[in-house]
Amino acid sequence: MTDDVREDVCDFYDRYPYPRPLDSLDAYRAQWQDPQRRHADFHLHWPTRPYREDSSILIAGCGTSQAAKHAIRWPSAKIIAIDLSATSIRHTEELKRKYNLTNLQVHQLPIDRLPELNSTFDQIVCTGVLHHLRDPDAGLRALRTVLNPHGTMHIMIYAPYGRAGIYMLQDFAHRLKIRATDDNIRDLITALRLLPPGHPLENLLRQAPDFRHEAALADALLHPQDRAYSVPQLFDFLHAAGLTFARWIKQAQYFAHCGVLSRIPQSTRLAQLRAIDQYAAAELFRGTMLRHSFIAHRDDDEIHPISFAGTTWPTYIPIRTPETILVEVKDRLPPNAAAVLINQSHIYTDLFLPITDPQKLLFDTIDGTRTIAEITERTFSSPPDQEHLETARSFFEKLWWHDQAVFDASNQSQN
Ligand SMILES: C[S@@+](CC[C@H](N)C(=O)[O-])C[C@H]1O[C@@H](n2cnc3c(N)ncnc32)[C@H](O)[C@@H]1O
Repeated sequence: MTDDVREDVCDFYDRYPYPRPLDSLDAYRAQWQDPQRRHADFHLHWPTRPYREDSSILIAGCGTSQAAKHAIRWPSAKIIAIDLSATSIRHTEELKRKYNLTNLQVHQLPIDRLPELNSTFDQIVCTGVLHHLRDPDAGLRALRTVLNPHGTMHIMIYAPYGRAGIYMLQDFAHRLKIRATDDNIRDLITALRLLPPGHPLENLLRQAPDFRHEAALADALLHPQDRAYSVPQLFDFLHAAGLTFARWIKQAQYFAHCGVLSRIPQSTRLAQLRAIDQYAAAELFRGTMLRHSFIAHRDDDEIHPISFAGTTWPTYIPIRTPETILVEVKDRLPPNAAAVLINQSHIYTDLFLPITDPQKLLFDTIDGTRTIAEITERTFSSPPDQEHLETARSFFEKLWWHDQAVFDASNQSQN
């Protein structure tokens, strides 16, 4: 990155730190006391590795609170956080002091100077950062050089189609030479209230209450450096940096088997595509994705993805995702459904999963320690026959597709 652009970005975040600084992480800390939440998070990243809490974690471009949150979440882990902006570092240091986070080190450092830390990491979290770099490829390569051989990266980058309205208003602001100052942002908020109905930005303003805050608006519309990646561009981006895609953080919205995509006439054809083509088609059909949030590995790491096709799935231990709720409002259920499972963190409301009575019994028997085989045996209270096993297999596969469960598959393969 040239020094000019870096200074612009740094100056921007010093004046408009994003996300909005937090004073209290008490609620966050209480949430993460739940061991199931920590297990679900660990096995989302490492389905086939035995659970542990002492990983080394880099938060690259930590912003105001992300690093402190990780340090609270994983008290036995060693967390290193870097950010370009002095304001972000100051907010992080304040949270570090307030919550006595002795497992957290914070450095004011750009990503391209990562080698100066002389450290490598089991996990790298870099969300909302790479698309702001002048040279995102060099940034991703720099992260790759400090990732341990079996490490995982959680990356979030912008997606183009859902942000079309943002790029139009960025261009509008650019043509009018509107810079990120408090007065300009106030005026921009006034103008946005008068945006004509049907403008591509309108939907987004309605959906994202965050935009009422100046820093969020500045981050979206007046950022000095910002690009977005479609699914194929994202895969090229990873490939060029020596990384392999592992999974989406929330995958249901990309899958032909879930929600509206399972009901379109082209659904079967969609499901037969290669995974990358299926995801690309899902992005085009949904049309409103704002970001892609996913996990990647080094391309020399052997990945054992969760699969319900072979013979090992009965040994998987399902863990419910913490955002999933079971809803049993009788008069609002689809025909033949005993309940509906909803992952409350899904942005798209079509991604609910109706379940039958036997499936509900299976779901109720998940406790984060039993394998699918044990759950099936318990639920049907006898050694399961072929039909029961197939009921279980297809149900747990659906839970997987719909982000209702993650799986601890560490007992079937310890790489
Ligand atoms: C949108 S914020 C995201 C913060 C955080 N990752 C999160 O998701 O909450 C982007 C952050 O990246 C930082 N940043 C931008 N360019 C950077 C670079 N080259 N090296 C390190 N940090 C950078 C900014 O200062 C800012 O704090």
